[in-house]
Amino acid sequence: MSLLELKNVTKQFGGLTAVGNFNLKVESKQIYGLIGPNGAGKTTIFNLITGIYNITEGEILFEGKRIDKTPTFKIADVGITRTFQNIRLFKNLTTYENILTACHFNTAYSLLDSVLRTKKYKEGEAILHQNAKELLKIMGLEERRDTIASNLPYGLQRRLEIARALALRPKLLLLDEPAAGMNEEETFQLLDLIKQVRDQFDLTILIIEHHMDLIMNLCHEITVLNFGKELAAGTPEMIQSNPKVIEAYLGEGEAAC
Ligand SMILES: Nc1ncnc2c1ncn2[C@@H]1O[C@H](COP(=O)(O)OP(=O)(O)OP(=O)(O)O)[C@@H](O)[C@H]1O
Ligand SMILES: [Mg+2]
Repeated sequence: MSLLELKNVTKQFGGLTAVGNFNLKVESKQIYGLIGPNGAGKTTIFNLITGIYNITEGEILFEGKRIDKTPTFKIADVGITRTFQNIRLFKNLTTYENILTACHFNTAYSLLDSVLRTKKYKEGEAILHQNAKELLKIMGLEERRDTIASNLPYGLQRRLEIARALALRPKLLLLDEPAAGMNEEETFQLLDLIKQVRDQFDLTILIIEHHMDLIMNLCHEITVLNFGKELAAGTPEMIQSNPKVIEAYLGEGEAAC
């Protein structure tokens, strides 16, 4: 059984078929790449998996169970978290506060415990702070602990968003263009970081990216989307040498960087 499976998934917006009859199987512990030209339907697929949009047709299964009717606010409980193409952070909170608020979704104490400041509450809070500090360290954000999120450089905002997604302890992490706006050095640091968190958190990762160096060095398998449909799927080697992919996508200046 695959960890994530999309079966004949279609999404229409009025007359536009953003995703058409799309199939995908992501195995546990894989790093799986989703690539393709602008407007191909990549983000729409993330929005369908996370319940932001309802599918028009088809099925989405996670650990063998249908999740395509699961509302967005329950998707993290199922074990799926994500980052967004347009970064979403609490812009007026510090780096640490941003991570801590995400950690709070895993509290082991009740509202009553917190009001009465019980032992359970105090122990729970100590664990949350420990988890937040650990994430701060792993993501290389310790020196920026007290920086207001909107003042962080763009690359670090993206790291912070990943830290927040990890704080929810997902089984599957969806990353939507995590290297967007990063220079080459930052992109290669991100590559190592993604590999590290995959191992450390025992994760499966589905990643959308236009940086081909990152995708080809990171992914076990890749699907190329074009006009909402699968153009090709396979290993990085197979994708890089596929004439249809080169013509539709890899020939583009943007994707070749
Ligand atoms: N809410 C929406 N309403 C109408 N059309 C939409 C909506 N969301 C996406 N689309 C359309 O669906 C198509 C796929 O968009 P999507 O954002 O999934 O592309 P993408 O592959 O993520 O592109 P990019 O690489 O530019 O981020 C586009 O034509 C887009 O305009
Ligand atoms: Mg997109």
